[in-house]
Amino acid sequence: MSEKLTLDRIIDRIEKFPALPYVISLSLKKIDDPRSSISDITRAISGDEGLVANVLKLANSAYYGFPRRIVSVTEAVVILGLNTLKSLIYTTLAKDVLGKEVKGYSLDRGELWRHSIACGIICREIARKSRLGDIEAYFVAGLLHDIGKIVLGEYLEEQYEEIVKRVSESLQPFNIIESEVLGFDHAEMGGLLAKRWNLPEFLIEAIRYHHSPEKSKLLSPSVVNVGDGIALMMGYGVGIDGLMYQISEEALARFGLAKEEALEEFISYVDRSLTAAYQFFEL
Ligand SMILES: [Fe+2]
Ligand SMILES: [Fe+2]
Repeated sequence: MSEKLTLDRIIDRIEKFPALPYVISLSLKKIDDPRSSISDITRAISGDEGLVANVLKLANSAYYGFPRRIVSVTEAVVILGLNTLKSLIYTTLAKDVLGKEVKGYSLDRGELWRHSIACGIICREIARKSRLGDIEAYFVAGLLHDIGKIVLGEYLEEQYEEIVKRVSESLQPFNIIESEVLGFDHAEMGGLLAKRWNLPEFLIEAIRYHHSPEKSKLLSPSVVNVGDGIALMMGYGVGIDGLMYQISEEALARFGLAKEEALEEFISYVDRSLTAAYQFFEL
């Protein structure tokens, strides 16, 4: 190993990591501000043509199933509602960040994106099933949970072999070995990035603790932990992250999925939404 990785060096790299695009952060801020009018929100989103195009494309996808064409951002805001709109904006962001090839993890372009979409959709269904309120927020948490891999991916090329070797020898979960070899794992790294992007605490915690939900007081890490584990069971995995994955028993029970029949029933239900969603979200 040439140069020892340190968290400082990685944080330094995070400093250079692209900031949250201005129009995205402004749009999210406007949506969250109760004093904003619809035209404030529309104006913020309209600051980026690409964002407008994506919002309309997503709004018109079969996935959201609106019977007629949505042609303007104002219409999208009114018809979709603010929670869905927010999740569309995060989806645009996530696709830019997660749709890349992740060298250090030997992931193909799109593999992490497919995993993230599956996890997001499963999290949304867990939230719906357990009546957790804003189900779109859980979709976003699932969508972004592995963003730390993008940062670590730049460093892992060298350490990757060692990590894989240790995982298969020790039969320990991947993130534990990641911590052993690097001193921290992708969840910690993702949490730092989310913080730098000023994302809400709900998302920072979901990302930071998705492999250790018992450390958080919030429910979002538990939802993501279960969503992530189910995505892997269903074959929407990424590289070696799926080896020895630990789903929190406590979280499974919390969402009524501890019994095998309940879990199987949920998986077959979710499978249908996933098939519909993939036609749209595929890169
Ligand atoms: Fe993860
Ligand atoms: Fe994951």
